[in-house]
Amino acid sequence: SAADPGALRTPIVAVLGHVDHGKTTLLDRIRGSAVQEGEAGAITQHIGATAVPLETISEMAGALVDPTDFDLPGLLFIDTPGHHSFSTLRSRGGALADIAVLVVDVNDGFQPQTEEAISILKRTGTPFVVAANKIDTTPGWNPQEGEPIQKSLEKQSERATSRLNENLYELIGDLSSAGFSADFYWRVQDFQSNIGVVPVSAMTMEGIPDLLTVLMGLSQRYMKEEMSIDVSGPGVGTVLEVKDERGFGATLDVVLYDGVVREGDTIVVGGRDDPIVTEVRALLQPRPNAEIRTEKRFERVDEVRAAAGVKIAAPDLDEAMSGAPVRVVRGDDVDAVKEEVRKELAKIEVDTAEDGVVVKADTLGSLEAMANALEEAEVPILRAEVGDIAPRDVTVAQTANEEKHQVILGFNVDVLPDAEDALDRTGVKLFDDDVIYQLVEEYDEYVEELER
Ligand code: GTP
Ligand code: MG
Ligand code: NA
Repeated sequence: SAADPGALRTPIVAVLGHVDHGKTTLLDRIRGSAVQEGEAGAITQHIGATAVPLETISEMAGALVDPTDFDLPGLLFIDTPGHHSFSTLRSRGGALADIAVLVVDVNDGFQPQTEEAISILKRTGTPFVVAANKIDTTPGWNPQEGEPIQKSLEKQSERATSRLNENLYELIGDLSSAGFSADFYWRVQDFQSNIGVVPVSAMTMEGIPDLLTVLMGLSQRYMKEEMSIDVSGPGVGTVLEVKDERGFGATLDVVLYDGVVREGDTIVVGGRDDPIVTEVRALLQPRPNAEIRTEKRFERVDEVRAAAGVKIAAPDLDEAMSGAPVRVVRGDDVDAVKEEVRKELAKIEVDTAEDGVVVKADTLGSLEAMANALEEAEVPILRAEVGDIAPRDVTVAQTANEEKHQVILGFNVDVLPDAEDALDRTGVKLFDDDVIYQLVEEYDEYVEELER
């Protein structure tokens, strides 16, 4: 029933925006973590998920949020990469979302991936708010740690206020050119027809109480008006990562965006060759406020309801692919669900050519990002797959016609021992890196060298 808070679907909040505009740092401040500091190349290259309970939100928002006004259990935040190569992950994050935060560096204003995020939000019809971030960098700013924005503005000089306002009005103008009527959030009555702009700083946490308040208001409206979603249906999710876990073997880190998954359920998950059918042995939930990507301590539970991040332990998951769909089979025919998963996977296949390089990546999302980056650099792809580098990849790379294509590009993957030998034997060149644009740059330099 609606009175049972466990029965309400936790809204999914996607955090979108241009590279380095502060998405991960903003989330770090909300959940009390330091994920951003551990990122390779200081950029986000995967989708992340964090459940932030109502309690945390009301603590951070202070007087602005009274928890008794809300029936929501909290919010599930989805972090997305802003680097231009990761367009598919952004659109997937956007498509998963019930509502979104568009993060814009208040000094930089609209940038290419801001525009891209806006078009995703338009296409998916996702209600959103704009976090005008980094207000602390306004010349002459007088920081007011953790304060609501109005209180902070009272403490600013006229000069700082007018500098900030200039930037904010420019942002409001850009939003209006993009077809959205926008205003300072405190002037907005209806957040679904007008875009509220919330000035914030992930550095000083000014305005974060306001941002959380606006998000809670927006999701509460959304829940009331749109959430006729059946929360007791079979679970549907996306695999974030396939990870070995002691005592369980290969496990799936999943964003469950619809329905319920229970211990013992039959699930279908996208595999390297064919969908895998298996049975859930254990469900492991990250602690509240933990980013599932970096969480080490999970709690075992019997059932998980959307939206949530959950680690699924089950036999036969070695060949499961990050980025693939996962579906619970309940009542339906297994073969029908397999076919559905197959169809979803077909949509995310990389285009290949007659001659080109071999690409291996850790997830479908990063494989797609590699394909984007290589297309831009006009590098053709002979084969693109998820997984560690195996001897057969070397064999395939060796069949490339041009020397510059007898190459394997590995993003965030390991080289299997047999493949090391094969590389030595054949002279196939390996480039591997955990930062996507560096990997493409290294390869570019190699080609330049060859052609010199
Ligand atoms: P991608 O995930 O790579 O797209 O970047 P992001 O949007 O997650 O940005 P990230 O959190 O990595 O922050 C980029 C840089 O901006 C880091 O050096 C942060 O410390 C800095 N930063 C983020 N928010 C603020 C802010 O409010 N004020 C200031 N001064 N710096 C900030
Ligand atoms: Mg980030
Ligand atoms: Na970054």
